[in-house]
Amino acid sequence: MSGLVRTEPLRGEPPLRVPGDPYSVVVLLQGYVEPEGVGEAVRADGSVTLILPRAWGPAPSHREPPPDGGEAKTTLEEAARGPILVDTGGPWAREALLGALAGQGVDPADVTLVVGTHGHSDHIGNLGLFPGAALLVSHDFCLPGGRYLPHGLGEERPLRLGPGLEVWATPGHGGQRDVSVVVAGTTLGTVVVVGDVFERNGDEDSWQALSEDPVAQERSRKRVLGTADVVIPGHGGPFRVVREGWDPETKGPGKNQQSPMVGNEDPTMH
Ligand SMILES: [Fe+2]
Repeated sequence: MSGLVRTEPLRGEPPLRVPGDPYSVVVLLQGYVEPEGVGEAVRADGSVTLILPRAWGPAPSHREPPPDGGEAKTTLEEAARGPILVDTGGPWAREALLGALAGQGVDPADVTLVVGTHGHSDHIGNLGLFPGAALLVSHDFCLPGGRYLPHGLGEERPLRLGPGLEVWATPGHGGQRDVSVVVAGTTLGTVVVVGDVFERNGDEDSWQALSEDPVAQERSRKRVLGTADVVIPGHGGPFRVVREGWDPETKGPGKNQQSPMVGNEDPTMH
C-alpha cells in the first residue's frame, strides 16, 4: 500500500482543528524533536491530541465499575462519551497542556478517557492530571481507582470506542503493545493519531533507529498509510496521505497510476 501513496504536510497554523461528526480532532500540542547541545542529545516532546464528541457533558455515573461480565467493550464505549485525550506530553508540558485544554473549553476533570500510545515519558508524562478518567495505556485498560479489564485488543482485532472511532494495535516503536487511535468521518477524512509509529512526515530514513521492532513497525506504518487521510505523528506536524491513481470505483489503483512516492515532498512541486 505504501508504494501507492505519498505524504505532504498539512498546512495551517496550530492548533489544528478538524471538525467531524460525531468526533472532531484537535492537535493541542504539536510534538517536536530537535538537537540539544553537542553529541546526540535531543530536546523532544510528544504530540497531544484531543478528540471531542459532538455532544458531551459531565458523566460521573459511567465511571462506576461495570457489573461482572459487563467488561471492557461496554466500558470503553462509555468512557469514550466525553473528551478523549491521546497522549499527554511530558511532565514539563503540564502547564502548556492545561492551557491548551482550557483553550478548547475542556477542564481536566471533563476528560473521560486518556489513551497513551506507548509508555515513553514524553507521551504519558501527565497522566496524573486525569485521575477521574479511564486509561488505556498501550494495552493496559483501567478504570479510575486502578481496576484493570481484559479487552482482547490485537492487530486483527481493533477496539471500538464509538461510531468510526477505534483503537488499533500498532506495534513496533516502543515494543509490541503500542496503539493508535483512528477517527473516521472528519472533514479531512480519516485521521489517525499514531504516537511514534511515525515520528514526523518524511521520517523514512530515521524511524528504524528508534524502533524496538522495525519489522512490526513497518507493518504498522503500512496499515496506517492504507487507511489514513491525515496522520498525526508523535514529533512533528500533521500530514496528509495522498493516494496517487486511486480509483474510487474499484477501491484500487487506477490505470493512470504514477510512480511510487512516499516522503515529504513539497506538494507544490507536484
Ligand atoms: Fe516520542
